Order: sequence, then C-alpha cells, then structure tokens
Amino acid sequence: MNPVYEKLMSCYESVRRKTDFEPKVALVLGSGLGKFADEIEVTARIPYNEIEGFPISTVPGHAGQFVFGYIEGVPVVCMQGRVHYYEGYPITDVVLPARLMGLLGAKYLFLTNASGGINRDFKAGDFMMLTDHISLFAPNPLIGPNIDEIGTRFPDMSSVYDPILCDIILSVADDYGIEMQSGVYAQLTGPSFESPAEIRMLGKLGVDAVGMSTVVEAIAANHMGMKVCAISCVCNLAAGIQETPLTHDEVQEAAAKAAPLFKQIVRESIIRIGAL
Ligand code: HPA
Repeated sequence: MNPVYEKLMSCYESVRRKTDFEPKVALVLGSGLGKFADEIEVTARIPYNEIEGFPISTVPGHAGQFVFGYIEGVPVVCMQGRVHYYEGYPITDVVLPARLMGLLGAKYLFLTNASGGINRDFKAGDFMMLTDHISLFAPNPLIGPNIDEIGTRFPDMSSVYDPILCDIILSVADDYGIEMQSGVYAQLTGPSFESPAEIRMLGKLGVDAVGMSTVVEAIAANHMGMKVCAISCVCNLAAGIQETPLTHDEVQEAAAKAAPLFKQIVRESIIRIGAL
C-alpha cells in the first residue's frame, strides 16, 4: 500500500477507536486564533499526541488537539493548532490532518491563517478571504505516488476556494458590517519572514497576502473532493511595507485582537455552510 495512505488510515483508525463523531465542516485555526474552539459545544477532544503517527506542532500558540462538537447544531471538527512545513515534517505529514478530517466525514474545509499584507489597500488587522492562491513556493503535497483511493493524479485547481462558500463568507461579513478584503494568498515555506525584495516580487506576481500555511492543505483537500474556503487575518504589513521588523509576538497579538470579529464571521459562516 502507498505509505502515505497507510499512515493516514492508521491515524483514521486511531481516531475512530476514540470517537464515531462525523463532522460536516472541518475547521483549521491559525496562529493566535485557537480560542475559537471555545465556541464549540464539545463532544470529544483528542490531543494529537494520542493519535499514532500524527504530526505534532512545536510552535508556541498552537495547542495541538482535535475538538469535535457542534456549532448551532452543525457537526464540526476543529484543529486547534496545525503543523507547518518549516517545522521539518514531510509535506505529506503537513496535509495529513486535513485529509484525515475529510475521511472522518467533513465535506467542507474552512482554513484560517495569519498573513502579511502586500496589497497597498490592506492594513494590519484586516481580514482577507482567499479567492485563489499561488503554490509555487512550497512543495506540492500531491508529489509522490498518487493515492488513488482518495483522488485523481492530476486534479483540477481552477476553483480551489469554492465560490458558494466564498459567497457565504462575503454575505456574513456584509450582514455583520465587518470589512472583508478578498485576494490571492501565497504560501512560502518560512520560517524566516520574507525579505523586502521577495515581497516586491510577490506583489508583482499578483499576491495580496503572504503566509506559511493553508495552500498545501487546500490542494490536498481539493484533491479528495472537499469544498474549501479560507480567511486570512492580515496581522501585519509585509516586510519593506511596514517599517518595523516583524516578530511572531506581533503576529500573535494582532490575531488575538482580531479574534472577536473573526469568531463572529467564522461561526456564522459555519452555520450557513451547515445549511447547504
Ligand atoms: N509573512 C509570512 N507569514 C506571516 C506574516 C508575514 O508577514 N505575518 C503573519 N504570518
């Protein structure tokens, strides 16, 4: 058997020994946004270290557990903490959790992250809904033997971020009077922040916000037929645009400050996605 699939199935069986919960929506909480899990009427929590072979995050601020439960009756699984490629895991491990949530039953994947703003109309603290991405700077998670059991060798990526889910996010933001930017996100590997020259390059390529996650998960989820949407919290303006040096603390602080509005958008979007 394909070793990547074998590991995925062994994680699946490990989770299934602990819960038979079937989520409809899967949610990944980015840097500083983990508190959203408090919104969930919890039925089960599974720390990642109780799942055999599961990649464990080493980043401060990334708690590290699956939370299963309901938001207004919508069955959800939420990843409190995710692993990043820069931690040294193979890219197939980085996307294993997204795939696992798909196998557990989630039809929808809601990704969130922290990013640096490149678009000159953005300011720190803005939200940006992803309309598309550029994946060229991180390894493609589908490299290696294809897992035929879950998807095709050459999957289409012409609408990675599902237009119906995007419409839901925009209408929620509108209904709540919350400003929502839209744009293209690029995932770089990190862990160093970008240089000003890299940011100028990304700007010329049409990138609106840059971060170190999300795109690989979105590709893997699309590959297996999940519908995906994503919101970025633009925590800072990217290197060379903002004058002060970037720090992880600054990113976390900005995300924490944005958390209450972010909670509202994500919660209401999930309720509306649950009605699809
Ligand atoms: N660059 C990359 N990742 C980030 C940034 C940034 O400026 N801010 C938050 N995550």
